[in-house]
Amino acid sequence: MFNINKDEKVKILLVVGSSRKGSYNQLIADYLKDRYGDTIDFKQADLKSLPVYSEDIEKEDFPSVTKLREDVNWADGVLLLTPEHNFTMSVLMKNFIDWCSRVEHVLEGKPTMVTGATLGHLGTVMAQSHLRQALLSPGVKAIAVPNTEVYINAIQDRIKDGKLLDDKVESLNTAFINFIDYIKPDNGYCFSCN
Ligand SMILES: Cc1cc2nc3c(=O)[nH]c(=O)nc-3n(C[C@H](O)[C@H](O)[C@H](O)COP(=O)(O)O)c2cc1C
Repeated sequence: MFNINKDEKVKILLVVGSSRKGSYNQLIADYLKDRYGDTIDFKQADLKSLPVYSEDIEKEDFPSVTKLREDVNWADGVLLLTPEHNFTMSVLMKNFIDWCSRVEHVLEGKPTMVTGATLGHLGTVMAQSHLRQALLSPGVKAIAVPNTEVYINAIQDRIKDGKLLDDKVESLNTAFINFIDYIKPDNGYCFSCN
């Protein structure tokens, strides 16, 4: 369905909606890179360099926007990690979506997984819900891959010595493996067997 060469690594673009030093969402992205980096090709989108989206400037030539489009086009799948700010996705994440929704609709047909971490109880459920809605909007038209939902609450309790503990993020790993299996069911790494 996605025309991926059997011998190639799956290419995943990480989109982290936080620029905070010590970001928990960045920690999760780093954990996935560490854990799966041997078998999956990861890149991370640079959201901090993007201008704030406005229709007035959407056709201007920004190197950061060009690079973003190249990175999305490169990816077989896009994994979005959003903080929850005031019951919705972060500004950085929304800015990413808006840039991807205009002039070039680079997320159209792209398999996506959404997750997010918070110190609180609800695991970014509202931010993720809004983000999934935006991914399905007419200018975006991404594919929200099923069985990849995971809401990471009380993130501070899942960390020891600055690292995520494997046994505290099992549902994250299951969701991520489901995501990869959807993109490349014959991935040859037998993710679903682990
Ligand atoms: C402006 C602001 C609003 C926030 N609103 C929420 C919220 O609605 N729900 C929530 O669970 N946490 C909220 N938080 C706490 C964030 O979940 C917390 O700062 C988290 O660490 C952000 O993710 P990061 O570590 O990746 O930056 C808010 C934080 C800020 C700074």
